[in-house]
Amino acid sequence: MTGPVPLPTALTELTGVRYPIVQTGMGWVAGPRLVSATANAGALGILASATMTADQLRAAVREVKSRTEAPFGVNLRADAGDAGERVRIMIDEGVRVASFALAPSKELIARLKDAGVVVIPSVGARRHAEKVAAWGADAVMVQGGEGGGHTGSVATTVLLPQVVDAVDIPVVAAGGFHDGRGLVAALAYRAAGIGMGTRFLLTSDSTVPAAVKAKYLAATVQDVTVTDRLDGLPHRMLRTGMVDALERSGRAASLLRAVRHASAFRKESGTSWPGLVRDGLAMKHGKELTWSQVLLAANTPMLLKAALVEGRTDLGVMASGQVAGLIGDLPSCAELVERIMAEAQATLKALGAG
Ligand SMILES: Cc1cc2nc3c(=O)[nH]c(=O)nc-3n(C[C@H](O)[C@H](O)[C@H](O)COP(=O)(O)O)c2cc1C
Repeated sequence: MTGPVPLPTALTELTGVRYPIVQTGMGWVAGPRLVSATANAGALGILASATMTADQLRAAVREVKSRTEAPFGVNLRADAGDAGERVRIMIDEGVRVASFALAPSKELIARLKDAGVVVIPSVGARRHAEKVAAWGADAVMVQGGEGGGHTGSVATTVLLPQVVDAVDIPVVAAGGFHDGRGLVAALAYRAAGIGMGTRFLLTSDSTVPAAVKAKYLAATVQDVTVTDRLDGLPHRMLRTGMVDALERSGRAASLLRAVRHASAFRKESGTSWPGLVRDGLAMKHGKELTWSQVLLAANTPMLLKAALVEGRTDLGVMASGQVAGLIGDLPSCAELVERIMAEAQATLKALGAG
């Protein structure tokens, strides 16, 4: 492989990739094309499986393997009813890395590790990092509040050093990264690499429709907002008419909309109604939920799909990090990784560390 010189860190050693850059698992976005392009660029691509059936996951994993020989990962929800089956598929297919949106159980971590899969859960708080480290996770990805999708309120610059100081395993920094300066800054905090969602969504290899990418490119930092009106949890996304309407609408309107979308998602994903409600409940970590919120939680994937797959910028939800306000182009994954590594080397040199 040609391209920038490798930058070895605990992350590259653990996962076998060339550069300490992760393309994170994003529902409806991180499919075989984006993941294989990332892998071929020398970074760690992670397939998002929460929006796939188990059969679609197996097919997607095989498609990535047909496009690249480089290591890659799969992101899954540890609380999904069929998490065990998904883990079996990953082990059968020889997937290198397991990424989790919510903390996996001790048993699930042990099962993956016994099979040689590297386990990297995503966390948004120090105590979750400590918990998964104690349970044997190989590394953690920590997402600061500026990151896209479900997110916390503590900024990366505060959360990252807190987590790095709290655990002995490698930490991958996510939330707000898009360039080589950011990579060097993360390494300075003693992270082992960076994870980027929004930046990889905005590449020519991402399958997100062009009109939707244009909305992200046009967004300023102020156009990115957080709402919990979608599923009861803080979710960072582009502010649109639809988001404003959700924030204004009363409970009855939300419930009706939720039922409609939950019904469509159920058909598409093959999830049963009890399964859907259980998944919705699990999203709230066992806290009290109204029925409307349970259905809104189930509804979220359909709203994301409407925009990210079907191009409905009017009706859909465009999950996004604040960093969308800094991004103005659509490089290929190879160009992006190469650019970030060149910037990182130049930054290290300017600092007298290169
Ligand atoms: C469109 C979109 C979809 C996402 N879907 C998921 C998901 O399915 N699972 C998950 O663990 N994280 C998900 N995330 C969060 C990202 O994996 C990542 O942590 C986040 O984007 C990092 O912040 P950044 O956008 O500033 O790079 C999503 C983010 C975006 C922007």
